[in-house]
Formats: sequence, C-alpha cells, structure tokens
Amino acid sequence: MTAACHTGLYLPIECEILSVSELTPAEKLFQVRRTDGVPLGHLPGQFIQVSLLGWGEAPISVASSPTRNNFFELGVRRAGTLTGAMHQLKVGDVIGIRGPFGRPFDLSRMRGKDLLLISGGCGLAPMRSLIQYCEDRPSEFGRISILYGAKNPTYTLFKDDLAAWNASARFACSLTVDNSTGKDCYSGNVGLITSLIPPLTFDPSKTIAAIVGPPVMYRSVITELKTKGLTSDRIAVSLERQMRCGVGKCGHCTIEHLYCCQDGPVFWLNEVEHLRGAL
Ligand SMILES: Cc1cc2nc3c(=O)[nH]c(=O)nc-3n(C[C@H](O)[C@H](O)[C@H](O)COP(=O)(O)OP(=O)(O)OC[C@H]3O[C@@H](n4cnc5c(N)ncnc54)[C@H](O)[C@@H]3O)c2cc1C
Ligand code: FES
Repeated sequence: MTAACHTGLYLPIECEILSVSELTPAEKLFQVRRTDGVPLGHLPGQFIQVSLLGWGEAPISVASSPTRNNFFELGVRRAGTLTGAMHQLKVGDVIGIRGPFGRPFDLSRMRGKDLLLISGGCGLAPMRSLIQYCEDRPSEFGRISILYGAKNPTYTLFKDDLAAWNASARFACSLTVDNSTGKDCYSGNVGLITSLIPPLTFDPSKTIAAIVGPPVMYRSVITELKTKGLTSDRIAVSLERQMRCGVGKCGHCTIEHLYCCQDGPVFWLNEVEHLRGAL
C-alpha cells in the first residue's frame, strides 16, 4: 500500500487555521480548512484526530455541518497538553488532522421524524453539526427541539448560535444552567437539564432523541425520556472514551466488544445500555 493510501487514516493531512474565537474562558472555536482545498467530507457526529508537531494528537468532534463545507469548525476545551497548545494557535497556523472517523448520527432514520437534540457542556459542539445540518435541510425533518444545559452562564457555549436558534421558528429551544450567581445578567432557567424534559410534549412513535454530554448526564436524561415513552431504539447516544489511533487498531476505546472510535461514537441506546460501563 502506498503512503497516499494512508493519508488521512494514519498520516495527518495539513490544515490551516482561518479564524480563532473565544467561546468561554476555557473553550475556543477554530475555523479550519484543508490546505489542499478538499472538503473534510464528514457527517454530523464524526470526529477527527487533531495533531500538532511536538504536542501529540487528540480526538475532536467536528462542530460544523458538512452542508457548510468551505471550511469546518472545532470547539475545543483546554483540557491538557494538545488542547492547551491548540489554544495558543493563531490565524494562518498549520495543524494536522486524520479522519473524519467514527459512526455519525443516523440521518436516514432521523429523516421525517421529530427530533429532540439534547446536549450538555462541550456536547453542544458535535450537536451543533447536526443542528446546522437540520437548519440547512429544513424539509427533511419534522419538529426540532433543542435542549442545552451548561454549568453556568459564563460557560455556555455557542451563545450566538443558541440565540439565533431560539429566535428561529424552525426550532423550539430550551436552555438551562446548573447555577447562576445573579451577577451574570442571566434570567433564564436554573436547574439540571433533566428539568427541561417533563414539560415537553411529543409523540414517542414519531420522535428520535439524540444525547451528547458529560457522562453524568446520560442516565438521568434517559430515565426522563423513557418516562415519556421513548424506547431505547429511538435514543441515540454519543459516547466518549480515551482514544489513540481512532481507527480500531489500539484497543484504547473499547466498550466490551465494541470500539468506540469505529462502532461509535454514536450508538443507539439499545446497542449499548446492557454493556458494562457503557453509560
Ligand atoms: C470522540 C471524541 C470527541 C471529542 N470531541 C471533543 C470536542 O469537540 N471538543 C473538546 O474540547 N474535546 C473533545 N474531546 C475530548 C478531547 O479529546 C480530550 O479533552 C483531549 O484528548 C485531551 O487531550 P490533551 O492532550 O489536551 O490532554 P491530556 O494532556 O492528554 O489529558 C488531559 C486530561 O484529559 C483526560 N482525557 C483525555 N482524553 C479524554 C477523553 N476522551 N475523555 C475524557 N478525558 C480525557 C486525560 O486522562 C487527562 O486527565 C473528544 C473526545 C472524543 C473521544
Ligand atoms: S482509538 Fe484505537 S481502537 Fe479505538
């Protein structure tokens, strides 16, 4: 096999940073383009392995929709070595990427259905890719409800997008924060994301839910959805594991017999809920 065959799978592809903006004190949004001009070719829910020479590599979800393909976007939380180095990047700097990798949201099963798109914290990054996709293909989906929970108003991601989705007749938006100091000019809901589910009315036989967020969120959100009559085969969950190769070779990301990097990160709940440590 030639080196060209491995490009993107094992060999990083060169990309240029087009813009950098601050989302919160801990998260930045990077607009990125392959330097060869080729579109990334991803689907909502997929991730890439981002590399920086001398700093290593980390899996990052694509935060923009393939329907907007002159560039792609990455929402990155400063968590350690690689992501810390990424936060120092400026416009014109070069990064490497491998991918896109992983199983995306199942758009074919979502088409024609009402959607409940539920995310917490950094989970809004991959969810934003799906929301933008739905925004750009309005005829393909039914009623779309966006539920988002953040730690507090300061750490709410994609505030401009949330405001636009909230104002759009296309979406029903419900937002909450775990806590607010009262000094942050915030007048919205305070409470866990689970508190947003009981007031919702939806027909479980016509609805698909998707959940992306911190591990602590899944069990309680799933319980609320099941109380509303949604069955496990209608609930998609995007799961995060420590990853190295991203292509099913190293075994770092396993959930029993499944490889999160290839069989996921998006799973139907009925595929994983019985597996030890999955949720
Ligand atoms: C499929 C997938 C998609 C992701 N998408 C995003 C995204 O869109 N934006 C974003 O900011 N982050 C995302 N992450 C998390 C991101 O990959 C980790 O924060 C990153 O690998 C940390 O690398 P680092 O070199 O900066 O930190 P390191 O110096 O390697 O580690 C810092 C700390 O983070 C922990 N860590 C490393 N990987 C993970 C992980 N996967 N989950 C939890 N803790 C981890 C380490 O154990 C260590 O405690 C994603 C992870 C996965 C698996
Ligand atoms: S990250 Fe290597 S097998 Fe999944």
